[in-house]
Amino acid sequence: MIYRIAPSLLSADFARLGEELKDVIAAGADWIHFDVMDNHYVPNLTFGPMICSALKPHAHTAQGARVPIDVHLMVQPVDDLAAAFADAGANQISFHPDATHHVHRSIQAIKSKGCTVGLVFNPAQSLDVLDWVIDDIDLVLIMSVNPGFGGQSFIDSALRKIEAVRRRITACGKDIRLEVDGGIKVDNIRRAADAGADTFVAGSAIFGQPDYRAVIDQMRAALR
Ligand code: DX5
Ligand code: ZN
Repeated sequence: MIYRIAPSLLSADFARLGEELKDVIAAGADWIHFDVMDNHYVPNLTFGPMICSALKPHAHTAQGARVPIDVHLMVQPVDDLAAAFADAGANQISFHPDATHHVHRSIQAIKSKGCTVGLVFNPAQSLDVLDWVIDDIDLVLIMSVNPGFGGQSFIDSALRKIEAVRRRITACGKDIRLEVDGGIKVDNIRRAADAGADTFVAGSAIFGQPDYRAVIDQMRAALR
């Protein structure tokens, strides 16, 4: 299993966003998780496509390897902003199925812009919709907190949901990433991996510490 760590810029110092991006990439980030909140679907407001495009030229390692920008849309409706983020350099775009009237259409719209696409499930949401679109998506994102804020505690029922998604991915046989988002720390990342997650969003756990590399290394050690 290839595990990926996706630091969330939500917990970065917004006054130094470009430096924070570079620092967390230098510390070993595999993906950059970019939390887009609209003060409508969730009760908070973050950053839009202009910020994504400003950061995009810096989303690479010192050796020049691209670091994917993993956009998590917490917005309603989905399609127009998804297209704007694709134009702003997003590599993958995930959205909440309850935030769009036509899930299948939103998936196709994102793919037509050349991005990979993910579906996001809130803590109390069932996975039913997944059965009808699993062949069309590249990623499933399981929320282990209610979306809207960083620094919340991990909700344990997410582990059962991750197990259920892993079973569906195995049955469908396609290479689909299984990402978990919310309350991930050094001391619980292994449990999420054991349940079947392969990609781990972490905001406050990384940006809340002075040494980003130390945290990411500890997470990788816990996953070994
Ligand atoms: C919450 C966001 C998360 C958030 C996670 O709505 O989707 O990506 O940054 O933050 P932590 O890791 O602090 O729970
Ligand atoms: Zn997120």
